[in-house]
Amino acid sequence: MPEQPATQPEQQNREQTQKQLIVDLGERSYPIFIGDKLLDQKDILLPYIAGNNVLIVSNETVAPLYLDKVRNQLSGKHLESVVLPDGEEYKNIETLNTIYDALLSHHMDRNTTIIALGGGVVGDMAGFAAATYQRGVHLIQIPTTLLSQVDSSVGGKTGVNHRLGKNMIGAFYQPRAVIIDTGTLETLPDRELSSGLAEVIKYGLIKDRDFLNWIKTNINQLLNKERSALAYAIEISCKTKAEVVATDEKESGQRALLNLGHTFGHAIETGMGYGKWLHGEAVATGMCMAARMSALLGWISPAEVDDTISILKQAGLPTEAPATLSTERFLELMSVDKKVLNGVLRLVLLKEIGQAVITDDYTQDQLLETIQNSYPE
Ligand SMILES: NC(=O)c1ccc[n+]([C@@H]2O[C@H](COP(=O)([O-])OP(=O)(O)OC[C@H]3O[C@@H](n4cnc5c(N)ncnc54)[C@H](O)[C@@H]3O)[C@@H](O)[C@H]2O)c1
Ligand SMILES: [Zn+2]
Repeated sequence: MPEQPATQPEQQNREQTQKQLIVDLGERSYPIFIGDKLLDQKDILLPYIAGNNVLIVSNETVAPLYLDKVRNQLSGKHLESVVLPDGEEYKNIETLNTIYDALLSHHMDRNTTIIALGGGVVGDMAGFAAATYQRGVHLIQIPTTLLSQVDSSVGGKTGVNHRLGKNMIGAFYQPRAVIIDTGTLETLPDRELSSGLAEVIKYGLIKDRDFLNWIKTNINQLLNKERSALAYAIEISCKTKAEVVATDEKESGQRALLNLGHTFGHAIETGMGYGKWLHGEAVATGMCMAARMSALLGWISPAEVDDTISILKQAGLPTEAPATLSTERFLELMSVDKKVLNGVLRLVLLKEIGQAVITDDYTQDQLLETIQNSYPE
């Protein structure tokens, strides 16, 4: 409960600007709260903390900005924190081990709550630690990048990278709550904002043409971090993700559609070295490649490919494959994708704009041609 009850106008104001969605997974269902300055609201975290032990996992960039806000919410608890180095290149088993070290050295028990405070890298690692420490402790996600607010904090995919492939070690593990304070985006660098927009545009491309049109109309407002535009984009993105996850939690069908552009994108991320290309940048280029391939199969028109490239460019994202990554290397990297089933690589492509499908209905030549056509001229 708040220390001081909110006055009526304050309460109304809060209700108007605050949204709550539910990820419906039976007894593992959980809320997503979206709102400005949520972390300044005293009653937001406590209901989701089970026992007395809390470990906050953050990184060296986010901790100085927001760790105190989270700590202040939890006075009275046995509260510890671990601050990880910042970067995709640290999303590995070695860094994960420092979380286990903290948990064990502070005698954290099975009723511990781990709070992930940061972007997708922190969220994926803290989530995997929560999934595996003593076979599973409680998890709360507090995502602080646009990408993690619209995508990685929702749905329970956790994990780390392996030298040979991205996100190859992991677990499905749902949080107890996701708390999205849109105010944290104020400090987010522009390049990271664009990276998050790639996943926002993804939802439009795979499922929702109307939303895609809304993004096109509001792209400048989004890039200028206008509160109401960002809040709307986050809400629709989380709603879409929550719906997909509720119908296919462990990715036996539908959920794979959320990976539009990711098979190409992960090849770029791994091939260029983790951290060189941001995840959203690699996914943006990957979505252009998926669009080109969909046109090659006769599913969408060349004009629709140009249109897709154009909105991603406007969002400040790259749309061409890195010249230094050879076609052969691309194919090799793509062959370790998690969507390879019985030796066949299934790809997420666009039947039309706003309707993605997962398919192996293509030839190796068409895949080759797509990669070759995706380099800068
Ligand atoms: N689990 C999933 O379902 C899922 C989905 C999509 C992406 N991912 C993963 O998410 C990762 C990418 O996440 P990301 O884009 O958030 O990257 P990130 O976690 O590296 O964060 C990007 C940068 O922004 C900084 N930062 C974070 N919040 C900030 C803030 N409020 N103000 C200033 N700086 C801030 C971080 O320290 C980092 O330098 C990738 O590893 C990707 O594989 C996972
Ligand atoms: Zn992604």
